[in-house]
Amino acid sequence: MKRVGILTSGGDCQALNATMRGVAKGLYSLYGSDGVEIIGFLEGYKGLIYEKYRRMTPRDFTGLLTVGGTILGSSRTPFKLIREPDRNGLDKVKAMKDTYKKLKLDCLVVLGGNGSQKTANLLSEEGLNVIGLPKTIDNDLWGTDTTFGFQSAISTATNVIDCIHTTAASHNRIFIVEVMGHKVGWLTLNAGIAGGADIILIPEIPYNVKSIISKIEERGKTGHDFTILAVAEGAISKERAEMKKKDRKAALAELAANYPSVSYELAAQITEATGKDVRVTVPGHMQRGGMPVAYDRVLSSRLGAQAALNISKDKYGDLVAIQNHKIVSVPLSEIAGKLKMVDPNDDIIAEARLLGISFGDESTSE
Ligand code: F6P
Repeated sequence: MKRVGILTSGGDCQALNATMRGVAKGLYSLYGSDGVEIIGFLEGYKGLIYEKYRRMTPRDFTGLLTVGGTILGSSRTPFKLIREPDRNGLDKVKAMKDTYKKLKLDCLVVLGGNGSQKTANLLSEEGLNVIGLPKTIDNDLWGTDTTFGFQSAISTATNVIDCIHTTAASHNRIFIVEVMGHKVGWLTLNAGIAGGADIILIPEIPYNVKSIISKIEERGKTGHDFTILAVAEGAISKERAEMKKKDRKAALAELAANYPSVSYELAAQITEATGKDVRVTVPGHMQRGGMPVAYDRVLSSRLGAQAALNISKDKYGDLVAIQNHKIVSVPLSEIAGKLKMVDPNDDIIAEARLLGISFGDESTSE
């Protein structure tokens, strides 16, 4: 009997259930429903730490392909606190290892993003058999071309920009759509291009308010009195980006004290400079919810099946990922702690610029 633990960790996204279904279907088909027991830990690593789990049956995994969220629940268990005892003095790493041993697991499958895969790597280094699966709407996980959840979130954010387009054009207003992504701009970049945004601001390309104003004015001169900006949560001004870390922290704290987010500050700056109405739309967690799009369902199913295959070969310690359309296994030690960011020199940025999209970094005549 093979015993496989599974958990979903960190911010949820659309294809978590579809991926678990993929793993389960693969395992049941390799071992038969009597040859494998799947144990689902509740609320991510918390379930593993505090022994909260469900013994799953094949029935638990049916009807999941299109269901958003996670049937196991999820939580954030920050990596930087993982080695610190909990409020009752419990050693979390030891507790996770104890649960794993107590349940006589052969392996643990972790569906998670950056922080979660760091913990997965730590558990692997501690001697557990671990397989990682790449989750996140941010697509910032190293070692994989794309993560499941990303395409679904692009689709939701794009729908928002599409809806905003008609109202922005009717009222000749400037609209900011704030897209998720504190550290990386993959989601904003893709939704911005797909939704036909005029200005895209991402953390990797610091902006200059003057160049944003000049793009808006330039549009006005060519008869376009409305402008749409797709702005990442983590978009940062050039001025702040160039500050020393300590000063930047203080400047961002001041921003947070004065505005709900960077988009609202930008809206005030644009209104001040142009005298035009600016509205901010924040789709927020909608971007993580709802049904996975077809691409994510296929990706999740493939990743899940390959994870099952790896388990049958006792091949552990890897992130099961996708590279150049092929499902591959990348050592967790190679990907842990690395953030996959947008390269400002990437072709996609040059192509977007050629389409007339501003990244808020162009030089102005003044
Ligand atoms: O990591 C996924 C993500 O949705 C980010 O894009 C976003 O910045 C963050 O999580 C929001 O976190 P929370 O759900 O804890 O508010």
